[in-house]
Parts: sequence; structure tokens; C-alpha cells
Amino acid sequence: MRSSFLTVAVAAGIAVGLVSGADAAARKKAPDREYFEVSRMAPLTDKPGDPVNGKKVLRTTGLCLSCHTAPIPEEPDHGDVAPDLAGVGSRLQPAEMRMRIVDPKVLFPDTIMPSFHKKEGLNRVAKAWEGKTILTAQEVEDVVAYLSTLK
Ligand code: HEC
Repeated sequence: MRSSFLTVAVAAGIAVGLVSGADAAARKKAPDREYFEVSRMAPLTDKPGDPVNGKKVLRTTGLCLSCHTAPIPEEPDHGDVAPDLAGVGSRLQPAEMRMRIVDPKVLFPDTIMPSFHKKEGLNRVAKAWEGKTILTAQEVEDVVAYLSTLK
């Protein structure tokens, strides 16, 4: 009698453990509040972005086209390891694009895309780049303004 009570108690304990484990896994997978907060990043500057300069940054300093394809026919080489940026202005809000450029690793920890406006928490930074970002705040805004025109 006593042993069957124990068996039931242990089984119930395991069941509760399993259910709360499954719960935790579900919570981890669902896009949570934090995702929505970080993916809506406010503008980095007061000056609105300049799409013409943004397109230039995309092709030069940003090296975005080494991974991405974009609707820039005058550029001969485009990468194909990242999503085509055509139509990105319809898929993503400016605040979401900004987050992906500033620090994509917050959203996609394993991404190969560099963090273009992050100074801390980077690995093996060359001396010349210590404390510097790849793009300035204004350049990030310019790129976001350009990408927003790609509807
Ligand atoms: C080393 C490769 C690489 C470089 C360089 C790179 N990206 Fe990306 N980018 C990616 C990958 C891969 C993804 C897909 C999501 C992921 O894995 O992060 C992505 C995703 C994006 C997205 C989201 C696209 C979508 O449709 O969801 C945007 C916007 C973006 N990149 C913009 C840029 C801009 C702007 C630059 C240059 C300043 C740039 N990327 C440079 C690899 C790169």
C-alpha cells in the first residue's frame, strides 16, 4: 500500500517536472517581449537618414553586397549567402532594419552578419578598430533610409 502511494507520488512529481520543462522550452522558442523590444530600435541620430548616401555606404564601407544581393544593377558583384534586399522596405520596419544593422547577433546569435554599430562585447578586434564601430550612427540611419525605399 505504502509503496504504491510512493509510486504515484513519484510519477506525479515527474509529470509536474516534465510539464514545467516543456513549458520552459515553449517560452524559449516563442518570440518574446525582449525580441519585440530590441527589434524596434529608435533612430540613432536626430538628422533623418539620407538614402543617397545610404546606397553609397551599402556599396562601399558596409560591404553589404559581399553577402547580400540588392536591386543595384550598376554593381557587378553581389553576394548570395544572405537574403536578397529587394523589397526589404516592405518586409521590415525601419526600427527592425536598424536593429539588424547595429547588432544582428541580439536577434540571431549565430549569424555571420557583422555588428555594424557595436563597440563592446566583440571578439578579436584589430587594434585599429578598438572602441570604433564599422559604421557611424549617421551612416546606419542613411542605410536604413535607403533600404526603406526598396519596396
Ligand atoms: C558576412 C555577410 C553579411 C554582411 C557583410 C551583411 N549581411 Fe545582412 N544578413 C546576412 C545574413 C546571413 C542575414 C540573414 C539573417 C541572419 O542570419 O542574420 C542578413 C540579414 C539582413 C537583413 C534582414 C533581411 C530580411 O529580409 O530579413 C538586413 C536588412 C540586412 N542583413 C542588412 C545588411 C546591411 C545594410 C549590410 C551592410 C551594412 C549587411 N546586411 C551586411 C549576412 C550579411
